[in-house]
Amino acid sequence: MAESMLILRMCSIILVLGFSEAKMEIITSKPDVLLGENAMLLCKAGGEGDITWQKDGEDAEDDQVEKVDETSSKLFIRNAKIEDAGRYTCLCEFDTGHRDYVSYAIFVYEPPSFGQTPTNHEFLEGQDVVITCVVTGKPAVEVNWERDHQKLHSDGRITRLKDNSLQINNISRKDRGSYTCEAKIKDRPIFKKHVISIFVNVPPTVKIHEEVKKVMAGPETNVSLSCLVEGVPQPNIIWTIPDSSDESRYKYNSDKSELIISSVVRSDYGEYICTAKNKIAESSAMIMLDVSEHPVAVLSQEKMKVEPGQTLSVSCNVSGHPMPALQWVRKTNNDHLLTVSSCLVVFVWIQDTGGGRVRMEDGYVLVVDNVTSSDGGLYSCMAISPAGNASTDFSLQTWPGKASQVSGTPGPTSVHFTLGASLVDGGSPITHFTLQWKTGRENNWQERVIQSTDPLVITDLIPYTSYSVRFAPRNHLGQGGFSDELTVRTQGIREPDSPILVASEGRFEGNMFSIPLTQLDCGGSPIIHYIVRYRVNKMDEDWRVKDLPSNSTVINLHDLQCKSDYHMEVLAVNSYGSSSPAKLNFNVPQPVAKMNKGGMAKGAVASIVMLIFLVLLIAVDATCCYTNRCGMLMFLAVKLFGQKVPGMKTVEEGDGTCNGKTSPIGDPATEV
Ligand SMILES: *[C@@H]1O[C@H](CO)[C@@H](O)[C@H](O)[C@H]1NC(C)=O
Ligand SMILES: *[C@@H]1O[C@H](CO)[C@@H](O)[C@H](O)[C@H]1NC(C)=O
Ligand SMILES: *[C@@H]1O[C@H](CO)[C@@H](O)[C@H](O)[C@H]1NC(C)=O
Ligand SMILES: *[C@@H]1O[C@H](CO)[C@@H](O)[C@H](O)[C@H]1NC(C)=O
Ligand SMILES: *[C@@H]1O[C@H](CO)[C@@H](O)[C@H](O)[C@H]1NC(C)=O
Ligand SMILES: *[C@@H]1O[C@H](CO)[C@@H](O)[C@H](O)[C@H]1NC(C)=O
Repeated sequence: MAESMLILRMCSIILVLGFSEAKMEIITSKPDVLLGENAMLLCKAGGEGDITWQKDGEDAEDDQVEKVDETSSKLFIRNAKIEDAGRYTCLCEFDTGHRDYVSYAIFVYEPPSFGQTPTNHEFLEGQDVVITCVVTGKPAVEVNWERDHQKLHSDGRITRLKDNSLQINNISRKDRGSYTCEAKIKDRPIFKKHVISIFVNVPPTVKIHEEVKKVMAGPETNVSLSCLVEGVPQPNIIWTIPDSSDESRYKYNSDKSELIISSVVRSDYGEYICTAKNKIAESSAMIMLDVSEHPVAVLSQEKMKVEPGQTLSVSCNVSGHPMPALQWVRKTNNDHLLTVSSCLVVFVWIQDTGGGRVRMEDGYVLVVDNVTSSDGGLYSCMAISPAGNASTDFSLQTWPGKASQVSGTPGPTSVHFTLGASLVDGGSPITHFTLQWKTGRENNWQERVIQSTDPLVITDLIPYTSYSVRFAPRNHLGQGGFSDELTVRTQGIREPDSPILVASEGRFEGNMFSIPLTQLDCGGSPIIHYIVRYRVNKMDEDWRVKDLPSNSTVINLHDLQCKSDYHMEVLAVNSYGSSSPAKLNFNVPQPVAKMNKGGMAKGAVASIVMLIFLVLLIAVDATCCYTNRCGMLMFLAVKLFGQKVPGMKTVEEGDGTCNGKTSPIGDPATEV
């Protein structure tokens, strides 16, 4: 019976819904009610009837319910408590007889709160840290962590603890940033976010490239000291520089990590400390700047003139860093070090040759007692250090030394000196020689001064006579001692010595060759003439022969063939005969062309042709004259000079002296 009644009622509801459009509804602002707030549910039945309220199946309290009219009713939740949450049902018994109801769920919550949860954390890198998120809220709260809007996942290093805190092991500077703790009422769209900023500090560290920096002082030397600094927050850099240095010369880059010194000087050396400091700690590193200086050697004098027997004292100061060692070195004339192996050896060498007269005083003064000629020359003061070497030369000049091992070769009128050992010039070139001679009966020396380039010969002596002879060298400081006296006897009269021809003094001018002719010893009887013969240097060429007068000082040979080798012989003749020939080979060079660019004018060509014709004519005539005493020239000569034709004069008796060399006037060259 009851079942059939229920079915009937259901059917009537369907009918009402289908035909009357009656619909029950509960209207309220929101399903979630904050703890302590008020809420109101309005039930509209859609038709007239008796409306009642239930909460979770039990009748609502009367003071909660208020009837509005026949079709609607209100339910009030005042000062909401957690227990007020539940399912509220509005039931209606319509006047039409059927019943209906509608339900609505109300949630009461206490909002999430983060209480005293901090919003900032500062940690030190490497620490194991816990970031807490203390949340309250009802009925239940769930917590999520986010970083950069991404859900934070646990990995080996980052873990969620049971109390919702986040643990980060070995925190690094990469972990810094904003973390969000999100608290949400379980199953409800009610949530709150709390942003926590994490700072990870790193104590400063300082790294340097090189602990010791070595540079050479100088205007071109710039040095940069750099210091690599790390740390969070970014550390400030402070440099501590040596007291001796002048900071105003230093420059820094923008973050002071680089210190730049231009034109490094010695006083910049020392310890440079780079200190990096942030609020966590400070750290520093030291760079040693080692500044070396190129050595310098300064002499008290660069040249000194000392008479033999006096004392030389010259000081040399060396400076530089490291402090150089000082060496005195004797140089040869060629500026080569005699010995360089070591300071000691060099100095010992000087001492040995100086016979104990050479010493070093106070470590920098070179003293030579009782200076001798052989001390003259160049000395070097050397400053030697690992930073380099420097040397300054000192020139000691004194008189030349007395010549030793001298021998004399007599001729009839001359004595020729020969040196068995080279001369000691006393540190300055020998400019002159003083020659002295006397006969056994004389007390006074006769003397003559000659240039050092002249042959070392006493001339104009008397044949068959005993002489004492000696000589002394001279430089611009003074004259050295005379060589030991030699006693020589001049020879009797004989044939002259060979004339002297110095090949290097020969000169060419076109196809003419000229060379000075020197006669040192005429054999005690004057030279009558010279015989010059020359030919192209081939076996079957004919000699061309010419005589030169006795006062000739130059031989000129004309009309030589270009680019040919010549052989020449010169003999000196006195009344006793002729000398052995002085021989010379020479090669006539190609003459330098002197033509104009446009070639020779026709007139010039014509005059050259005529000249050649004339020369040929004269040559033929001259040959005729010379060989057969005929022709035009012979005729003219006889008319002009009578029978005494020049070049054919007879020999005159000599006066016992040689007149070959000593005529100083003019150029008595005889053309051939
Ligand atoms: C901590 O992390 C650093 C790299 O950030 C790593 O080098 C170091 O070994 C870690 N220390 C430990 C104890 O895991
Ligand atoms: C050294 O620095 C100066 C200025 O600071 C600059 O003029 C000079 O060119 C630099 N010299 C070298 C060799 O770099
Ligand atoms: C060398 O130094 C000394 C003192 O150290 C000084 O008296 C002397 O004048 C200096 N000599 C030279 C050539 O500089
Ligand atoms: C200097 O030399 C001469 C001879 O060469 C010698 O007689 C003299 O004793 C020397 N003097 C000194 C101080 O050595
Ligand atoms: C300096 O001199 C020493 C010895 O004389 C030599 O061994 C060295 O090579 C020299 N150094 C330089 C840079 O010339
Ligand atoms: C050379 O001797 C000749 C005569 O034989 C003479 O005419 C000429 O002047 C002399 N020359 C000199 C420079 O004496």
